[in-house]
Amino acid sequence: MIRRPRRLRVTKQIRDLVHEVSIDKTDLIYPMFITESETEDIPSMPGIKRYSLTDLPKALEEVVSAGVTAVLYFGIPDKKDEFGSEAYNDLGIVQRGIRLTKELYPELVVIADICLCEYTSHGHCGVIEQGCVVNDKTLPLLAKAALSCAKAGADIVAPSDMMDGRIGAIRNILDNNGFEDVLIMAYSVKYSSSFYGPFRDAADSAPSFGDRKSYQMDFRNSKEAIIETQLDIDEGADIVMVKPGIPYLDIAKTISERFSVPLAIYHVSGEYSMIKAASEKGWIDEKKIVMESITSMKRAGAKMIITYYAVDVAKWLEEI
Ligand code: PBG
Repeated sequence: MIRRPRRLRVTKQIRDLVHEVSIDKTDLIYPMFITESETEDIPSMPGIKRYSLTDLPKALEEVVSAGVTAVLYFGIPDKKDEFGSEAYNDLGIVQRGIRLTKELYPELVVIADICLCEYTSHGHCGVIEQGCVVNDKTLPLLAKAALSCAKAGADIVAPSDMMDGRIGAIRNILDNNGFEDVLIMAYSVKYSSSFYGPFRDAADSAPSFGDRKSYQMDFRNSKEAIIETQLDIDEGADIVMVKPGIPYLDIAKTISERFSVPLAIYHVSGEYSMIKAASEKGWIDEKKIVMESITSMKRAGAKMIITYYAVDVAKWLEEI
């Protein structure tokens, strides 16, 4: 036999020498929920909390000391209304969280998720008229939310709403207000997914009627992923995202091969909760399953991985 693929696997040292991808702490982004109420556990996401502003500094100390260099913030306001006004209130909960974080850890990369669903009384990601989410009336509100987070000190804004044209609207308002160095991480390829279930408990953002299928993508399709990504890059996205993670690695691979901007993959709440639940039952090895899952995302072409396991992974990397 001339070719024996097993020769490349013969010892750990050889395997390490030839390995293609690995996880680095700088790949990790930790999603965090900041609440205007008291700190609370999220029952469907064991180990994840909604933090009050009072408890945020302690949580951040753990994040930073583990070596995680980027966080993704979601705000959970006390008051919600039809137009999601708290999303673009300069004194809103996420804006206050960003300001506090930047005072404590100026070098920590703060990414603000930009969407209306946590802030609207109906739980949809945009303005509702006659039971429909109206695209063009939502754009100025998303742009205002992005500007407000940039003013608070966010390094990156990450629109997750899936309205058409939002990247352009956000780039425009940021540039017109002197924030040309604030990056946009676009949730370009965001599928309408049941894997977001636990997140909606965490962020209290489940739609009160209907679903998100008229704006998030249909999981039976892959071609529109290319159009969505192309549009976002043309409108000014610096980083693009595919979401969820594991069930959509085929899409991530396509996007990473076709486009040159850095790719992020979101290892979403349902993926987190499934691993947690199975490992709590003792059925799987949590650490190994997590490392294998997120390494597969690197292999598919992601540079960044947004995961609720980020702090754990950073600690595990120290142990190896
Ligand atoms: C807001 C948003 C969602 C997630 C990120 N941003 C929920 C949704 O679209 O319903 C999901 C993240 C996760 O499941 O971890 N639009």
